[in-house]
Order: sequence, then structure tokens, then C-alpha cells
Amino acid sequence: MSVDLRLGVNIDHVATIRNARGGAHPDPLRAARIAAAAGADGITAHLREDRRHISDRDIARLRAEIDLPLNFEMAATDEMLAIAINAKPHAACIVPEKREERTTEGGLDAAGGHNHLKRFVSELGNAGVRVSLFIEASKTQLDAAASLGAPVVEIHTGAYCDATGDQRANELARIAEAVKYGADLGLEVHAGHGLAFDTVTPIAQLPEIRELNIGHFLIGEAIFIGLEASIREMRRLMNLARGMTGASQ
Ligand code: PXP
Repeated sequence: MSVDLRLGVNIDHVATIRNARGGAHPDPLRAARIAAAAGADGITAHLREDRRHISDRDIARLRAEIDLPLNFEMAATDEMLAIAINAKPHAACIVPEKREERTTEGGLDAAGGHNHLKRFVSELGNAGVRVSLFIEASKTQLDAAASLGAPVVEIHTGAYCDATGDQRANELARIAEAVKYGADLGLEVHAGHGLAFDTVTPIAQLPEIRELNIGHFLIGEAIFIGLEASIREMRRLMNLARGMTGASQ
């Protein structure tokens, strides 16, 4: 397991498949156990307002039954704040949330939403939960995160992953600059969204990034090669990018 670059495995889409039929199968907890065995450093789960995938019970079970740190993704609402303070996950990542979106589209407006977010950052921090803000690779947003007192930011990699050719190179350069700027501000910098085997390496090579959160691709790839193999391969690529041996852990 790498302490240099952690892998948080997002298990939301195991719950998406379960919920498509109701019932208990496939169980996101089983996925979390496999992720632990495959070299994940943490589990990420997003309890959405509409409960379309992860449920309140999943969060309670993740806290009670899984040893890996839980990164609880949440919207900045009073309902989610109360759940987070009660569940006391290792970390909470505040994300923007719109009911009609398919996934978290774009980052949080930490600059425009400063007054609203301040209470969430401080109450979570006071409860001993490490707060991160999911933001775009923008100096304005990084400055706002620092001034809010958030210890961690997660940079949205969606535009980089969606782009091709020169556009992808431009997006990567924008992320590289932001990551460095964030680290210089004293923020711990994470990244995630849309990462796959063919996009992870340049991101993992940015030395200031301490954690990647990856879900949709890993769960999709598991259909073809199995979840453990999918996570092990991502872990191997991350280690290779950091110049470590290509060994599986
Ligand atoms: N990080 C954050 C803050 C997210 O909201 C998501 C998606 O839930 C991810 C990472 C993982 O994105 P993906 O499922 O596309 O790998």
C-alpha cells in the first residue's frame, strides 16, 4: 500500500446496481471488503439527497463493519451535516449536488458560496471530521477553500478525462498548476472524477497529489475482469506513476 498516493475506492455504483432491482444484491459492503484486500486506502461513498445509490444504512454499516477510513461525500445541507456528525467518518468531502444531474457535474463554488459553506467546514472540523471541498482547478476556488479553513481540496478531473488531444493536455496543465498552487497554500490536494486506466497516470504523476478517488470506471471494469483485479490494476498504475515498483501493492 502506498502512503505517498492513497487510493479511495468509490462504491456508489455497486449500490446503483443493487437499487435497480431493490433487495440486497450486490452489496456495497462486499465491494468495500474486496477493495481493502486489493490495496485501497479508503472507501468513498456519496449519500445523495435522493438516495439514488448509497443509503443511510450503507453508511452505518460502512462505519460499523469496515476498517478502512470512510470518505463521506455530501452536499452542504443541514440534513447531511447532521448525518455526518452522527456517523463521524474519517473525512467528509463537500460536493455540489443537483437532483437532475447524473453525477457530480463541476466543482463546488467555494468562492461564491463562502458564507453558506463556512458553518459546514467549521462544524465538521469541530466534530473531528477532515473536510475537503470538491472544486475545479482554479486559483479563485483554491483561495476560497484556504480562506474557509478547509484542510483538504479535491480537484475535479472530469473535464480532463472527457477531453481528447490538445484539449486534454490543456486540462492537465490547468490541473498541474492548480495542484501546485493548492499545495503552496498549505492545502492537502486530492483529485478525482472520471479517472480510468488510460487517464490516471499523468494525474498520479503530479507529486503534490496525496489521494485519488475513483469509482465509476473501477465498478464498470469489474464486470469484465472482476473488482479485485480492477482495483489492483489501478493501484499498480498509480504506483508505477509514482516511480514505485509495479508490484500489486
Ligand atoms: N470524487 C468526487 C468528489 C465525486 O463526487 C466522485 C463521483 O461520485 C468521484 C470522486 C469519483 O468519480 P468517478 O465515479 O467518476 O470515478
